[in-house]
Amino acid sequence: MIYLDHNATTPLDPAVLEAMLPYLREHHGNPSSVHAAGQAARRGIDRARRQVAELVGASESEVTFTSGGSEADNLALAGVMQAAVAASEPARRELIVSRIEHPAVLEHAAALEARGFVVRRLEVTAAGLVDPEALRALVCEQTALVSVMLANNDVGTLQPVAELASIAHARGARFHTDAVQAAGKVAVDMGALGVDLLSLSAHKIYGPKGVGALVLRRDVALEPQVRGGAQEMRRRAGTENVAGIVGFGAAAELARARLGEDAPRVAALRDRLEQLLAERIPSVTFHGDRQRRLGNTASCGFAGAAGEALVMNLDLGGYCVSVGSACASGKREASHVLQAMGVSDELALSTLRFSLGRQTSAADVEGVVEALVPVVARLREASARAGDRRAAS
Ligand SMILES: Cc1ncc(COP(=O)(O)O)c(C=O)c1O
Repeated sequence: MIYLDHNATTPLDPAVLEAMLPYLREHHGNPSSVHAAGQAARRGIDRARRQVAELVGASESEVTFTSGGSEADNLALAGVMQAAVAASEPARRELIVSRIEHPAVLEHAAALEARGFVVRRLEVTAAGLVDPEALRALVCEQTALVSVMLANNDVGTLQPVAELASIAHARGARFHTDAVQAAGKVAVDMGALGVDLLSLSAHKIYGPKGVGALVLRRDVALEPQVRGGAQEMRRRAGTENVAGIVGFGAAAELARARLGEDAPRVAALRDRLEQLLAERIPSVTFHGDRQRRLGNTASCGFAGAAGEALVMNLDLGGYCVSVGSACASGKREASHVLQAMGVSDELALSTLRFSLGRQTSAADVEGVVEALVPVVARLREASARAGDRRAAS
């Protein structure tokens, strides 16, 4: 099986598994316990907190472990908006999000809206970028929080987050960025970005599923969403997922060490993939900004061939790729990201996302194109014939 769906999830790195095993087998203590068993688990969490902080240029006390990227996004939005209403006078009740955020942000924003908060949505350009001037026009004295992702999961576009954050700050608003897809693929430095809150997920960086973090500056007021204990500096109660957190730390350290080597190698393979697709398949469309994007992601439209059928046919040939984003799979809806970029629903539903990773080889890239060429031709022919029949009847 050739796996080209690393934006959906990544395989657990063997070194990460090794780091986790002692915390599944031996160190079973509760990290809140004062005895030796508890303290062994605590030390594992402390090390992981340092490793995760180092991945994003933050300090240890700024890392709050969560159950993943979705919870980190939810905590950022709910926590800041609720605290802002309680603390600011007059109350800041407005939240700004871009239209291409992950559903963890968009659906939580809609839920806040239903509860009386004001939500404003930023449009993106045809290349999938947020225009800083659009934010400047929207942000105001009532804005409590702006949330714009660092890298998009569907098309890989990298947003001008540093500039956006400084625009938000000029109006006294906080800035959150979802860096779930960016971490491990580009250098992420909270200081350079100037953001107040940043979401991460372990399973996108060759760590375990079900663990992530919200990294937040010490002066950010945050209303906890899970109460009932003093864990995570009272920002998120509950006995910690010790082995998961240890794995996240190991994955973060590995990601930092390997970035310089992995990123250019993977980007060269992705460029080769796009070149081969353009050469071998007529009328391929490439979505997303050509420069400002992740090096591992290719979002390609094959007009006239249904995306789901393409995925299933590639799967039969041993290749795992995705239609739109994994979180949207199961639903036959065009990706909201492509829609926001002005791509027609028809083309969006004929779009595949290839996301390459650490193990991807040149043979994998050549193989998937080889497998795709006859499938696209067959599906296009079938859909043209169906169109002819409709026209004749
Ligand atoms: C940009 C982005 N944010 C958040 C998430 C959610 O992360 P998790 O799966 O850890 O909840 C994902 C996962 O697809 C993502 O791509």
